[in-house]
Amino acid sequence: MDLRIAVLPGDGIGPEIVEQAVKAINAVCTLYGHKVEYTYALVGAAAIDKVGNPYPEETHQICMDADAILFGAIGDPRFDNNPKAKVRPEQGLLAMRQKLGLYANIRPVNVFKSLIDRSPLRRELVEDADFICVRELTGGIYFGKPQGRSEDGQTAFDSCVYTKAEIKRICKLGFEYAASRRNQLTVVDKANVLATSRLWRETVQEMAPSYPNVDVEYMFVDNAAMKLIQQPKHFDVIVTENMFGDILTDEASVITGSLGLLPSASIGVHTSLFEPIHGSYPQAAGKNIANPIATILSAALMFEYAFNLKAAGASIRKAVNMAIDGGMVTEDIATTGKAYSTTEVGDFIVKNIK
Ligand code: IPM
Ligand code: MG
Repeated sequence: MDLRIAVLPGDGIGPEIVEQAVKAINAVCTLYGHKVEYTYALVGAAAIDKVGNPYPEETHQICMDADAILFGAIGDPRFDNNPKAKVRPEQGLLAMRQKLGLYANIRPVNVFKSLIDRSPLRRELVEDADFICVRELTGGIYFGKPQGRSEDGQTAFDSCVYTKAEIKRICKLGFEYAASRRNQLTVVDKANVLATSRLWRETVQEMAPSYPNVDVEYMFVDNAAMKLIQQPKHFDVIVTENMFGDILTDEASVITGSLGLLPSASIGVHTSLFEPIHGSYPQAAGKNIANPIATILSAALMFEYAFNLKAAGASIRKAVNMAIDGGMVTEDIATTGKAYSTTEVGDFIVKNIK
């Protein structure tokens, strides 16, 4: 196959970890005889610095023309504690999601056996936990209008807005994932308080008869936050709105002790995007210490989801598992004392893609 990949390294450790994933993609393409072509583009603070816009039109065109997008990270401390900044790196991320129609963020959460003791939870609670979060990504309070300040500046407001059509398309994905796994769908909402949540429930109730094998459960978000910690093995597929999903997926990512290891896929109307779930980790930028595995696993997801090349994805995963099991890892997950650099871990994984 001929693969065209848009590469958006972004900020902080983004460029270093993306470079390792590109090496892995090259290795797997050589192995299976695929041709790959990369187009690099600016995003985030890096784009603000160069062209004053965190998601420039040129980047958007490159993304639209690609078969898949490999994304590093976004965010820069120069903007974080400055509520008056006119333009912020995160606006680039939101604009990108909206313009590419990336309405679903998929985060698989699973356990790497040799790292279980890094979980903040007891081994018996997390061992064999395996679930997927499906987060709505282009609606809700992130994008609802009106948003802003009153004229006197003393009142601020955000709006949570969902249409039935938006709810349907994301919940359809939730049902389909559940049907392809253990047939257990948890719909997380706040239907005891929010009108949008009640529309979610109503919509899911209408859809449920079309998926007779899927068991649907409704859970309030506060309860879900608790249950994720108390009994992570309870979950198979979670589907939820944008902001609840933002919060719960961060919570979910630490359960297995694998924050630096988890990839994600954002899919929707146009080109799909693959990125590690962690952020730009500015303190580590340029030091060659960041863990590249989540980004390399995002490349594996890309082969599986965007290109439907399952064997290629599996080859990457196998090499990653060898690195983890063999202790060929960066300092954040090194258990044996010796830690390796970002590039050493990348090189080891590349060497074992065969
Ligand atoms: C995420 C991030 C973003 C979000 C931020 C950086 C805008 O936290 O991808 O989860 O809130 O969606
Ligand atoms: Mg988040």
